[in-house]
Amino acid sequence: MDPVSNSSSPRKRVLSGMRPTGKLHLGNYMGALHNWVRLQDQYECYFFIADWHALTTDYADPSQIPANTREVILDYLAAGLDPEKSVLFVQSKVKQHAEFHLLLSMITPLGWLERVPSYKEQQENLTGKDLSTYGFLGYPLLQAADILIYQPDFVPVGQDQAAHVELTREVARRFNQFYKKQPAGRAESSNDEPILPEPQVLLTPSPKLPGTDGRKMSKSYGNTILLSDPEPEIRAKLKPMVTDPARIRRKDPGNPDKCPVGDLHKIFSSQETVAKVYDGCTTAGIGCIECKTWVADAIVAHLAPIQERRAQFEQKPALVKEILAAGDERARTRAEQTMQEVRAAMGLAESTQGVVAP
Ligand code: TRP
Ligand code: SF4
Repeated sequence: MDPVSNSSSPRKRVLSGMRPTGKLHLGNYMGALHNWVRLQDQYECYFFIADWHALTTDYADPSQIPANTREVILDYLAAGLDPEKSVLFVQSKVKQHAEFHLLLSMITPLGWLERVPSYKEQQENLTGKDLSTYGFLGYPLLQAADILIYQPDFVPVGQDQAAHVELTREVARRFNQFYKKQPAGRAESSNDEPILPEPQVLLTPSPKLPGTDGRKMSKSYGNTILLSDPEPEIRAKLKPMVTDPARIRRKDPGNPDKCPVGDLHKIFSSQETVAKVYDGCTTAGIGCIECKTWVADAIVAHLAPIQERRAQFEQKPALVKEILAAGDERARTRAEQTMQEVRAAMGLAESTQGVVAP
């Protein structure tokens, strides 16, 4: 059955987003995008780029935000997010998020924001930046507004965002305690359904994806492989990759379970190759250089269709612009629908209502 036309049981809704950090890497892909692409066929999906969130840390120098936003949208499309299936949009183009953030700020106790774990952590870690700002404290509340304004059922995120979704649920609960749906017309009596259903986190099952230095792949460690890295670059980055420290010499046996290259094999290589790696590594039958060639082959093959699509979209900037403009518009329409209920419930009537008789 076509899920779109099956109006008797509408598809459940999904929303997620990313900050525009620049070109995405394999960690972003396996930790989020790859999962989103699969969700598109089952759910009504909204995926966006959180450019306002970038300003919470980069307010002093926003010069990279436009280019970074472009790169992320290209990576979204390259990875297979399909504007025919999903609504793809940019946060700052849907001003309703900002209005909703303001309204939610009225009911959100300061303590709730101060005790979000990422707040103190990030303040301590990003030492070059002054993050003692109002906007930075409000980061997770803006995220709650991003989410709740689409009344989604699920929010697919990594573990690092789970606390933000938890806060979102608490804010929704508090909102629903204060405010009820207003009867829209005379015929319709007010119903008990909450205005803001509590969304559930959909934790992305993320395999351990090490960067080239063996630590978690992350832009801030400079150990990434980008989705858009050309083949020679991928091979060059993998060549010096950290391996099982037990394999000092070629004749020393190793253990792929203790090797970051082994971790990559488990994610990207075929079962046959993984078997060959276990066999060759534990018997010292293969060298690490050969083993890395195989993992490079697998990653290159995995990225080939993604890079092919990226190249197509890079050649058509007008099409990308159109896709985003259409996505922004669809997002605005959906967000506005929630905001009308929210405004009415919070005593913010349409400007002429109650002032001028009809
Ligand atoms: N905070 C998220 C991140 O850093 C980005 C984000 C902003 C987001 N708003 C959101 C994610 C709403 C999911 C839902 O990746
Ligand atoms: Fe790692 Fe492969 Fe070397 Fe074994 S052979 S230590 S899995 S790189």
